[in-house]
Amino acid sequence: KQLSRPGVRMRMPRGGRLFLATCLGSLVSFFGKQFEIDCCILKITPASIILTRVEPYKQLQLLADQKSLQGRRELLEQACLSHTKKRRVLSPEDLKHLIVDDKHSLLYCYVPKVACTNWKRILMVLTGDGRYSEPLAIPANEAHVAGNLRTLSEFSVPEINRRLRSYLKFIFVREPFERLVSAYRNKFTRSYNTAFHKRYGTKIIRRHRTDPDPEALEKGNDVSFQEFVQYLVDPRTQREEPFNEHWERVHSLCHPCLIHYDVVGKYETLEPDARAVLSLAGVEDIVQFPTPGKSTRTDGDMAARFFKHISPFYHKRLFNLYRMDFMLFNYSTPEYLRT
Ligand SMILES: *[C@@H]1O[C@H](CO)[C@@H](O)[C@H](O)[C@H]1NC(C)=O
Repeated sequence: KQLSRPGVRMRMPRGGRLFLATCLGSLVSFFGKQFEIDCCILKITPASIILTRVEPYKQLQLLADQKSLQGRRELLEQACLSHTKKRRVLSPEDLKHLIVDDKHSLLYCYVPKVACTNWKRILMVLTGDGRYSEPLAIPANEAHVAGNLRTLSEFSVPEINRRLRSYLKFIFVREPFERLVSAYRNKFTRSYNTAFHKRYGTKIIRRHRTDPDPEALEKGNDVSFQEFVQYLVDPRTQREEPFNEHWERVHSLCHPCLIHYDVVGKYETLEPDARAVLSLAGVEDIVQFPTPGKSTRTDGDMAARFFKHISPFYHKRLFNLYRMDFMLFNYSTPEYLRT
């Protein structure tokens, strides 16, 4: 408890990098010296966490859910083995998307455009010491205020490892192109998102529109999906800075091959998966996942409509960009894709 006071931050010393090792007995380098840190993520298998967490009377009830969740986790592990070459080590900076609930021993990696507002609301209820009781009563913008929730990157390496080892870790993912189109629509086609228009829209128009008119250049508020795609596949984009989290790949945001998530929830099956997480966390009596206003099934073909106007050249590039997310989370190559 004391170690989780706000303000106990990890300082990254200049020149020296403190690595969080991700495998048994890894050597890490710190100020040029090698030493062994208390390790690590792999010691407790995800399966054993689930088993110890599920109380006996709940096991039967959860069996059906658990099976598909287990299959997903195994598939992820296999895909990681076959598609990731080098084992990377993580630094605390890489853990900015992992939200911590010390009270209920939960770690949630948030992925924008995958119901993350509601999950943040849930975590605010769970960590709020009674300040909130109803997730939907928390305004969306408040759920996204940095500092309302704690992230794993704020802790020291031993404190990070301790949580990674014993907490229930979960993530929610979505078909990558549905997520991408959702991000585009939300950030570039809504007039209120002026911050995104200024920050990204003006740049996209400057680079990818021939003969832009001065107003578009100034406001950046009418970026087409085609232009957005050109921006994404342009090698300069990622050379200059990492993608914005709304279109960054889950693979890069949440490191699913290094952090062994216990539950990989899917947007396509949001309700049952959310129920399973809350039940495994033992908090289903405290909070319920808000039922979505609009059906998630109806926008299952949104990406197809947007991709129709994109040339095969860009289909291929874009698929290469998001390939890992497709493979790791068992999403099949879209039928509309022309490569
Ligand atoms: C992977 O996807 C296929 C095709 O959609 C599906 O039949 C299969 O059950 C999935 N596997 C897992 C482990 O989720």
